[in-house]
Amino acid sequence: MIKIQVPATSANLGAGFDALGLALGFYNFVEMEESDRIDISSADGLDIPKDENNMIYVAARDLYEVCGRKMPGMKIVQTNNIPMARGLGSSSACIVAGLAGANHLLGNPLTQDDLVDLAAQIEGHPDNTAPALLGGIVTAVFDGRKVHWVKQEVYTKLRFVTIIPDFELKTEKARACLPSQVSHKDAVYNLSRAALFSASLLTGKFENLRTAVHDRLHQPYRMELIPHCREVFDIAYTHGAYGAYISGAGPTIMAIVDEDNTYFTGKMKFSLENAGIKGWQVHDFHIDNEGTRIV
Ligand code: HSE
Repeated sequence: MIKIQVPATSANLGAGFDALGLALGFYNFVEMEESDRIDISSADGLDIPKDENNMIYVAARDLYEVCGRKMPGMKIVQTNNIPMARGLGSSSACIVAGLAGANHLLGNPLTQDDLVDLAAQIEGHPDNTAPALLGGIVTAVFDGRKVHWVKQEVYTKLRFVTIIPDFELKTEKARACLPSQVSHKDAVYNLSRAALFSASLLTGKFENLRTAVHDRLHQPYRMELIPHCREVFDIAYTHGAYGAYISGAGPTIMAIVDEDNTYFTGKMKFSLENAGIKGWQVHDFHIDNEGTRIV
């Protein structure tokens, strides 16, 4: 069996809706080998689809098809550390694991660019799949067929603190609440901030991040689906976060924090409890600069 390690990802980064994403230092693991049947199991007892609807299986089969090969069947063993439907790229991790694993099993016929394109076509947007494959912070434009992307490695003294509620929010629901049209003014509001985000992150101008994470395309609408969202932002800023945003489609809230802000995580946990916001989990991570690998 080969073993694939895929990072969690955080998409949008505030204003960069469907365009910006970064990889985090915590991982799902998937073991795969060709088989004459579908044999899918979970190493940690998690309830996952065990038939041909399993996303890892679907992605692997798609890759075989692109390469003109019929997939005989597949044995897949999943270890899922990335919580599902929380805005941390769990479905992208499955797609990327399936593609990377199948490509490896076939002797790597597809290039990294091919994998980035295929993953975005399956997922519909590239801002989780591209950083999951590539690592670092990725700026990506998906024109419907191809992804035009830049990966930048990030070596900062920043930590990314995930504040994860105890409820799920499906991406379809979080996209369905968005308006179909926005004003010219709001478009400018977002594009300027999205550009400011990556430039500030990469040059160390962290004081800009609080402005850069604001947006008018998705967060104001999604906040209504996430109880306590505004309060959690306030608490994060009280404890010195540079910026806080809804990770991907939510409901996880991400706080960007200086490494020297030593007790941020503990203070956050304590304040959430004190405010009666129960059951949320707080963890901190560095950026993963490597992306998906066979281990
Ligand atoms: N950019 C996507 C969204 C990420 O916000 O809906 C979640 O898949």
